Amino acid sequence: MTLDEYIENHSEREPEYLAKVNRRTHLRLINPRMMSGHLQGRVLALLCHMIKPARVLELGTYSGYSALCMAEAMPESGILHTIEHDDELEDFIRENISGSAHAGKIKLHIGDALEEIAKLDEVFDLVFIDADKRQYMAYYEAVLPKVRAGGFIFADNTLWDGKLIEEVHPNDKQTIEIMRFNDHVANDARVEKVILPLRDGLTIIRKK
Ligand SMILES: C[S@@+](CC[C@H](N)C(=O)[O-])C[C@H]1O[C@@H](n2cnc3c(N)ncnc32)[C@H](O)[C@@H]1O
Repeated sequence: MTLDEYIENHSEREPEYLAKVNRRTHLRLINPRMMSGHLQGRVLALLCHMIKPARVLELGTYSGYSALCMAEAMPESGILHTIEHDDELEDFIRENISGSAHAGKIKLHIGDALEEIAKLDEVFDLVFIDADKRQYMAYYEAVLPKVRAGGFIFADNTLWDGKLIEEVHPNDKQTIEIMRFNDHVANDARVEKVILPLRDGLTIIRKK
């Protein structure tokens, strides 16, 4: 047994419907590793139970798994906007969302994250950044003004497979941008932050 399996076996079980979405994602999409999955999904759900967000914004829907995890912990009147630019995923995402008990809380926007953020006239309790790694700084600066004081930003993949502490190839734009993002957030006095070494790194940021 691996330590990851031990942790999953001693944490909240993956809800049946999400296990189905997880399996379907593995069968139908390439790169299922991009999906939050059992453990990170339960962390997102638990954090949302603690924060009780009424307005959530997600950048990067993929199969809809993380959106479903967060929506389950939102009030019935809550709205989660999730943005995905790959229109070939749209039917699959809508299928996954519509079969869930929390479908009514989720609004899918197909388009580029930065363009869609600009169209949303909302104040958010929580933003989950998980789209193009090369644009994390731009996402952060675009969403921070839309987060209420005391609200949160979660940023995924901020440990980027450990590449951040190795020698970086000058063409590796993703690693360079994640490093820039991590440095920027670490030095940003507007927020309180901690990088959790969960999966590929999840940064929890609270706007002061
Ligand atoms: C890591 S996956 C998201 C995983 C999902 N949040 C989860 O945890 O289950 C990243 C997604 O962001 C999408 N994406 C990449 N660039 C984007 C952009 N500029 N605007 C919106 N979505 C983008 C990708 O197509 C992909 O589906």
